[in-house]
Amino acid sequence: MLSKMIKEKYYCGIDLGTQKIKAGILKVKDPTDMELIGAYEHKSHGFKDNAVSDLAEFSECIHHTIHELTKKTGIKFRHVQLGLGGAMIETREINTVIPLIDRGNKIITRRDIKKLNNDARLLGIKIDEEILHDLPQYYKVDDVNSALNPIGLYGRKLGVHSLMIIINGNRIRNITKAVHQAGYDVANVFFSSYATSKVVLQDTEKKGGCILIDIGSQYTSVLVFLDGILRFLEKINIGGSNFTRNIADQINLPFDLAEEIKKSYAVASGFDERKDEEILVKREDAYIPVKKGAIYQAISPVIEEFVERIRAAIVLSGLKDRINNGMTIVGGGSLLPGCIERIGQAMNMPVKLGQVNLPSRKNLNHTALFSSVVGLAQSGFKKTVRYSISSNGHSHWAKHFTNRVKDLYQEYF
Ligand SMILES: Nc1ncnc2c1ncn2[C@@H]1O[C@H](COP(=O)(O)OP(=O)(O)OP(=O)(O)O)[C@@H](O)[C@H]1O
Ligand SMILES: [Mg+2]
Repeated sequence: MLSKMIKEKYYCGIDLGTQKIKAGILKVKDPTDMELIGAYEHKSHGFKDNAVSDLAEFSECIHHTIHELTKKTGIKFRHVQLGLGGAMIETREINTVIPLIDRGNKIITRRDIKKLNNDARLLGIKIDEEILHDLPQYYKVDDVNSALNPIGLYGRKLGVHSLMIIINGNRIRNITKAVHQAGYDVANVFFSSYATSKVVLQDTEKKGGCILIDIGSQYTSVLVFLDGILRFLEKINIGGSNFTRNIADQINLPFDLAEEIKKSYAVASGFDERKDEEILVKREDAYIPVKKGAIYQAISPVIEEFVERIRAAIVLSGLKDRINNGMTIVGGGSLLPGCIERIGQAMNMPVKLGQVNLPSRKNLNHTALFSSVVGLAQSGFKKTVRYSISSNGHSHWAKHFTNRVKDLYQEYF
């Protein structure tokens, strides 16, 4: 049978977060037949202030994460699909224009668009930057006509407005070096939250307008989609560790203990009923009682500020009134009970926890945590096969050839 003959392939996504390194393996037969066969998470070491601070330690950490994943799944591989968190990236919007012809008009071809986007990439970055994602927002034909797809239109000059997601060159070089030292090769690099959006958001949601919020440990990324593309990205320097830090400071506990308490007892909204309840917390050799109300009071102001910053980001996008499909929330910080409800109330929008609609061998209960590795592995797969699979059964070169002929035809006549 044909389907049996297609060899399944494995893709490893690895998400380098500021607090956790997460890795997962996706088994892919074809774009409609994928399975998450294992995932693993490990605390990040040797990585500080959004850059590699200790190469040996960081690379050991990557090695350990992938080694454990290999042990769990029995699958070996060499290439990884790397994802980087919001803390490590920058965005830039740029406008670029090219002339199409000296005199008269011509019909705009796929090649013109390719050249324009290539120029945009060259002009849009500084000397020591790399582009992770280049997202054309709209094209302009002869300064007036805004088009999402200008192929086939008459024009004398062609412009593009692009949103670039970029990273510092040495930062990515050092991270890649750590991956090499761990014994692996980097196949592709993506912005983690963007890769996540590919598996938690439906195309119809993105078309009608929706928001993805990735709550990490030190940063939260707000991504606004409309007409099917990423239109706006804002980073907020508040995440789950800010909640923990407040608990640690106000109840006078070490950070790690405050982290445990946060995960077991903290809530972001709907608290009142249990105000006088106490929990016993082990400190050194003694148990001390802590009121649940005190935990709530410790995180409440930072939650308030956090929600306000998200609201401000969405207003800044200028697209709030065009969001018809609500908000989806991912990242470890979203697991704080009451957090997503609180954000939904503040924005007066429907809100849900991100889900990956994918069969997984083990029931991984926190898909909000592992959606990034699935998105990374899937993005890697799509990049590899973009030109080798076509939905209508034609081989890639035949399709490419037809396009080329069309381009030539339009260029000469
Ligand atoms: N069950 C839980 N309840 C509350 N908070 C949680 C829970 N599980 C994880 N978190 C919080 O999620 C945060 C980590 O999220 P995540 O693993 O997405 O971050 P990261 O990817 O390492 O960071 P970043 O994306 O900022 O680089 C931590 O602050 C952690 O305390
Ligand atoms: Mg993250």
